Amino acid sequence: MTQTLEPVEIDGAKLEQFVFKAVDEVGATLNTALVVMGDRLGLYRALAGAGPLTSQELADRTGTAERYVREWLNAQAAGGYVDYDAESGRYTLPPEYAVALTDPDSPVYLPGFFQIALGTVHDSERIVEAARTGAGVGWHEHVHDVHDGCERFFRPGYHANLVSSWLPALDGVVAKLDRGARVADVGCGHGASTVLMATAFTNSSFQGSDYHEGSIEVARSRAEEAGVAGRAHFEVASAQSFTGRGFDLVTMFDCLHDMGDPVGAARHVREAIAPDGTWMIVEPAAGDRVEDNINPIGRAYYGFSTLLCTPASLSQEVGLALGAQAGEARIRDVVTAAGFTRFRRATATPFNLVYEARP
Ligand SMILES: C[S@@+](CC[C@H](N)C(=O)[O-])C[C@H]1O[C@@H](n2cnc3c(N)ncnc32)[C@H](O)[C@@H]1O
Repeated sequence: MTQTLEPVEIDGAKLEQFVFKAVDEVGATLNTALVVMGDRLGLYRALAGAGPLTSQELADRTGTAERYVREWLNAQAAGGYVDYDAESGRYTLPPEYAVALTDPDSPVYLPGFFQIALGTVHDSERIVEAARTGAGVGWHEHVHDVHDGCERFFRPGYHANLVSSWLPALDGVVAKLDRGARVADVGCGHGASTVLMATAFTNSSFQGSDYHEGSIEVARSRAEEAGVAGRAHFEVASAQSFTGRGFDLVTMFDCLHDMGDPVGAARHVREAIAPDGTWMIVEPAAGDRVEDNINPIGRAYYGFSTLLCTPASLSQEVGLALGAQAGEARIRDVVTAAGFTRFRRATATPFNLVYEARP
């Protein structure tokens, strides 16, 4: 018996709207590479505060080829990243955008966000293949733009919040750090958080660790550059095996959900932490349910989660794959399964949730 399907009525206006949205998104996708290009060639920095410039003037100031710069500027103008004055043929970077595109200490500094997105998309073919089998792709297997972009993306938020509001939101932790505490920063990547804490708390000692050797090498050099290498040491170790006992504070910044065995990591933290110690867990902002995360931040994080975080977790033992949008309830389950008796959300920003766990 053949089944006849009712013809589906197509709303032409809705279809057109969707196609135009998609055109805009293709432009935005290409803009990821264009922003990285502008950042690398110093185009945004040369535009910042310079007033209206021609493409030739911008090329002269940056030692680049005018024909490329003109096309780049037109793409930036069409995307609303620079203003174009048709009469003079000059382009201006608005001061607000200059902050977001050129000031690495601004909490809204964007180039790292684009850089990690570009690196992630660059590696996406591997994820397509992995999705056929369920295999993982480890953090260490990605291109440098993922690692470098990650540091440049997260550091501004840590710089703006970590010492001024996240640590003070934890019970009694700042007083201990001021007096002199032992801190383990686990899954520390390039050590942005470790260096910020070591700079702020000169009586305390810091041990950063990460399973990725390349990241630990960079972390060591960051500590040297910041002049804190004497109190910030680094080791290549997984969260399930980092060395040391009796830590007053254990921190994990945007990495618990990337781990294959977060419960195993939590158990190890429970063994390594002092009886009255604190475990600070910083995770991407997320609600517990999918419908809580249907918004622009959720969109970006689900994208990174599909292409980076979930494959990273699946590449490791257990492969729990919490995902970057795990939400508070699942993080609580992980923490309490490891024997921590107290867990609370200490504070939050639009991009991060900060949890406090105590033995
Ligand atoms: C998104 S990055 C965050 C890095 C750093 N904490 C930051 O905020 O910039 C996640 C980090 O977790 C690390 N990682 C993943 N699984 C790990 C594990 N099982 N043990 C230790 N580190 C792990 C990765 O190597 C990577 O450096």
